[in-house]
Amino acid sequence: MQLLQFIKGYLDDPRAVGSIIPSSRGLADAVTKAAGVRDARTIVEFGPGTGVFTSVIQQSLNDEAVFLAIEIRKDFVEVVRERCPGVHVFHDSAANVQQCLEAVGRQKCDCIISGLPFALFDDELQDQLLDASYEALEPGGVFVTFTYIFAQHLPKGEKFYERLRERFVSVDKTRTVWTNVFPAFAYRALK
Ligand SMILES: C[S@@+](CC[C@H](N)C(=O)[O-])C[C@H]1O[C@@H](n2cnc3c(N)ncnc32)[C@H](O)[C@@H]1O
Repeated sequence: MQLLQFIKGYLDDPRAVGSIIPSSRGLADAVTKAAGVRDARTIVEFGPGTGVFTSVIQQSLNDEAVFLAIEIRKDFVEVVRERCPGVHVFHDSAANVQQCLEAVGRQKCDCIISGLPFALFDDELQDQLLDASYEALEPGGVFVTFTYIFAQHLPKGEKFYERLRERFVSVDKTRTVWTNVFPAFAYRALK
């Protein structure tokens, strides 16, 4: 059912959804680990889709943690609210992360896990989203975002990596998850 809903979302708006099927459990584990979710106090997810990352992140939270997810599609918001009760799911753009944090009584977050298809966004939207992310993070916080391996050497992929490096203190990569469709890794950018 969630798979069908995701495919429907992609057919409806391929540039926002970015992938015809959801990510794998293996990629969800990799991004959750890279973000250091177990030790984080405030965790934000961008673009949860139908909640593949959301449920893995939720299972890794400590008792003090506040976890919010920000999704632009109303139908996906409803799926994630039903799949992951207890998560604060906002129907909004990730560009409004600061307002969403304030709505749950937090000013900053320790990590952001992004599922957004950055390579499909224009330069202005990429800048807007990355600036908002940087501002929302605590010093020492991490921004984790996945990319398909074939996309990293395309001009848009290379430019996105440069955008991360221009803003963050360091940017490294996780292992590649070969079982994901398509194989993917994540950038881990440190504020
Ligand atoms: C590639 S899908 C990733 C879904 C899920 N995280 C996964 O990996 O299976 C991208 C998701 O980002 C959402 N999205 C796109 N632009 C957004 C924005 N500006 N703010 C919040 N969500 C957005 C889409 O609706 C979609 O759910």
